[in-house]
Amino acid sequence: MSSSGSVFAGQVVVVMGGSSGIGEAAAAAFAADGAEVVVTGRSRERLDQAVTRIGGASRGHCVDATDQAGLDAFFATVGTVDHLVVAVSGAVGGGPFADLDLTDLAAGFDAKFWAQVRVVQTALPHLRKDGSVTLITAASARAAFPGTAGLAAINGALEAMVPPLAVELAPLRINAVSPGVVDTAWWDRVPAEQRRALFDGLAATTPVGRVGRPEDLASAIHLMAANTFITGVVLDCTGGANLATGR
Ligand SMILES: NC(=O)c1ccc[n+]([C@@H]2O[C@H](COP(=O)([O-])OP(=O)(O)OC[C@H]3O[C@@H](n4cnc5c(N)ncnc54)[C@H](OP(=O)(O)O)[C@@H]3O)[C@@H](O)[C@H]2O)c1
Repeated sequence: MSSSGSVFAGQVVVVMGGSSGIGEAAAAAFAADGAEVVVTGRSRERLDQAVTRIGGASRGHCVDATDQAGLDAFFATVGTVDHLVVAVSGAVGGGPFADLDLTDLAAGFDAKFWAQVRVVQTALPHLRKDGSVTLITAASARAAFPGTAGLAAINGALEAMVPPLAVELAPLRINAVSPGVVDTAWWDRVPAEQRRALFDGLAATTPVGRVGRPEDLASAIHLMAANTFITGVVLDCTGGANLATGR
């Protein structure tokens, strides 16, 4: 990240799903670099708390990424967007394939795949012609973790769109950052003790020896927006957790 604090001066960055975790950390990185940052989420309370933590020229806007009318109204008010980050998440669609509830898988697609696609398509007329879009996908897209076939499908579908969109929508740049396991509120659904054991186990088998922090991902997202020579790229930011072990 820049030490000048002005890489994004005068630029508007929208982080959809910026009231927590990876999106919030990315928003803080952009705000620290001089951007006017608009973070979105569904909970007004979480947004207000996040804006206080993010600081700088940041503000929160309540909008559900699955709601087309809400997205239309949001982008109509926000003006020209220089950079868009889409970090909205789903929580369902994982689990062993034999027992995978296909209604859950469809809901997982609605919450992440369709939400991210909808956000990008709605944002297009409002994006600076040579601005950037960064999707947040997941290492499950291409890692062969048992129990993640559904998540692989959701995130793999998003990652598959990145190269053709980068060519079709140029000079707008389209990239994705694909996280490994990151310690965020996304994991709050797992009881604390179980979560700690899970993270410790994963850290032991990850080349860098730890799970991710939101700031690790924020720096990768910042790079995708700041480097005007990067487009069509899906950047793994996993600590090496997805690398083949040679088994
Ligand atoms: N954490 C990990 O280990 C991990 C690993 C791989 C990939 N990822 C991906 O990284 C991205 C960010 O996840 P995270 O871990 O930072 O999760 P998080 O801490 O739960 O943050 C998710 C953010 O998205 C917002 N959001 C969720 N659904 C939304 C919707 N329909 N409309 C608007 N905002 C919505 C949430 O706010 P509200 O709930 O208030 O709306 C929150 O601000 C997700 O795409 C996730 O799949 C995470």
